[in-house]
Amino acid sequence: MCGIIGYVGKEDAAPILLEGLRRLEYRGYDSSGIAVMNGSKSIQLRKKSGRLQNLRNLVADQPTKGACGISHTRWATHGEPTDNNAHPHLDQSGNLAIVHNGVIENYQSLRDALEKEGHEFKSQTDSEVLAHLIGKIYDASDETDLHKRLISSLREALKQVSGTYGIAAMHTDSPKFLVGARLGSPLIVGVGHGENFLASDVGAVISHTSNAVYLNDRDIVCLTEDEFRVETVEGGISDYEVSEVEYTAEQADIGDYPHYMLKEIYEQPESIQNVFRGRLLDEEASAILGGLNMTPKQLRDVDRIVLCGCGTASHAAMAGEYIIESLARIPTEVEIASEFRYRNPPLDKNTLVFVISQSGETLDTLSAMREGQRKGHRVLGIVNAVGSTIARESDGGSYLYSGPEIGVAATKSFTSQVTMLALLGLLLGRMRHLSVDYGKNMLEEIRALPAKVERILEQSDRIKEIALKYIDAEGMLFLGRQFNYPTAMEAALKMKEISYIFASGHASAELKHGVIALVTEKLPSVFIMPNDSVYEKNVSSLEEVKARKGPCIAVTTEGNTEMERIADDVIYIPPVTECLSPILSVIPMQLLSYHFAVARGCDVDKPRNLAKSVTVE
Ligand code: F6R
Repeated sequence: MCGIIGYVGKEDAAPILLEGLRRLEYRGYDSSGIAVMNGSKSIQLRKKSGRLQNLRNLVADQPTKGACGISHTRWATHGEPTDNNAHPHLDQSGNLAIVHNGVIENYQSLRDALEKEGHEFKSQTDSEVLAHLIGKIYDASDETDLHKRLISSLREALKQVSGTYGIAAMHTDSPKFLVGARLGSPLIVGVGHGENFLASDVGAVISHTSNAVYLNDRDIVCLTEDEFRVETVEGGISDYEVSEVEYTAEQADIGDYPHYMLKEIYEQPESIQNVFRGRLLDEEASAILGGLNMTPKQLRDVDRIVLCGCGTASHAAMAGEYIIESLARIPTEVEIASEFRYRNPPLDKNTLVFVISQSGETLDTLSAMREGQRKGHRVLGIVNAVGSTIARESDGGSYLYSGPEIGVAATKSFTSQVTMLALLGLLLGRMRHLSVDYGKNMLEEIRALPAKVERILEQSDRIKEIALKYIDAEGMLFLGRQFNYPTAMEAALKMKEISYIFASGHASAELKHGVIALVTEKLPSVFIMPNDSVYEKNVSSLEEVKARKGPCIAVTTEGNTEMERIADDVIYIPPVTECLSPILSVIPMQLLSYHFAVARGCDVDKPRNLAKSVTVE
């Protein structure tokens, strides 16, 4: 949430910053700005509300000059998305600029005190308070080494704030010098040759360097074009290493697709394969997840599992609960991370906690992980973003290797997470009661998934026709049962977030307990009902909706002709073993919401009010 990129080197900074912001725009897109230091020691500030193009136009009209700068794309927390509230923010003297991601919780009391001392603020943001505070400490300092003076001013200021931050700052006294710090909001150093970068995400710098340092909480960093130094806020030595970014700039580009969301939907045959590549054990008819760092005995001792995540990841967790319980018969519960972190659920020593997160940076999920660890539990991560905070701080886990997911609506991460949970269920099941034959069949079913996904993607045009048929719908219900109840929840979330219509997902049998009151000719219901053990039950629920004149779309298994007669529209998925069906059935739902939203003129990659990777509470 909010994107930061800073640059110090020999090139003109503005194009580099604007290109970095383009790559980071998915983190926030309500306003943006750059500050560039020029040779004559002043800060050139350009800020604009609205999409990045507005800032590009401003910079084209009023170019900046200089090879050192910081920039920001914002997702508003404090203060509306106006030009003034956009970052960077200056201190009272106008000589110091900062960009900030996170929330300064005690900003109001700090601001009151600074105002009493004569400081004048130009924005309603919490971040501007930080700029004034660092500037005030800097101006009062008698340290003659100007680099040291800026670092110690930042350090002092951070001791006075509570909240979270990923920061980049610069001062006119040190025109080719950047400082940064992180606590709770990600920050990386992009290590170049004769140039260095600070960014909230490696994606911002991959067209310049594939070497990055993932900073830890409470790290302070300073950079010149030739070197960088990392310390802790307290002044100690920080452990860091330079890692290679695991994807290329091309992989993160949109290519010929009109939207990242569509690109990522189409990447699913490959991303699912990436989850199970090298993790299927034919000889043992099982799976191997080496990153769990657990012995067979420890895995056998697990008697309860808690799966924790937010949004789409929590829906993947729900599917995981059904899958693990059916394959391994281990009691499994789903905890929404934002709830888990503040309640005090009883966990015993044989409970295994997993946090599930595409970005590995979602604050609620990260906090849930730390809460579990604080209580002495082993917390494992199922994460996509390599080097992310959850990946680094968890006690082990497995990467999804899905490649960058840039569309704000999660798509390929869901199918990858569910595939990973199926591998986990298989592994734990084979250590308990699952037979060799069952295990072998599961391996075949898992290997067959990518080709089956391809078959669903071929129906995109047909799904688009259905989306257009219901284009005036003011809402939509999504119904599923057992393994596809989570699919219904996820389908409703996709529809809501990118097309802004009311949509809700329910267990089909719950219809008659209240939801059916909503049914009219104008409210389509989508039944996710493959030919499985609850198919007949789903047919009954669908009939109940039809009897009340509600239009029905059925997502069912290829070869099912019954639905052609009963439902208004039918979408087919290939036959699949019941527990893996959410991995297939969600794909037509992603396509339905995509085509529906595009036809309604919505910006599917940047839905209103949202941003990818929620690093605030
Ligand atoms: C929905 C969506 C969000 C995320 C949620 C968790 O399409 O993208 O609900 O799933 O914010 O994000 P991660 O997985 O990065 O922790």
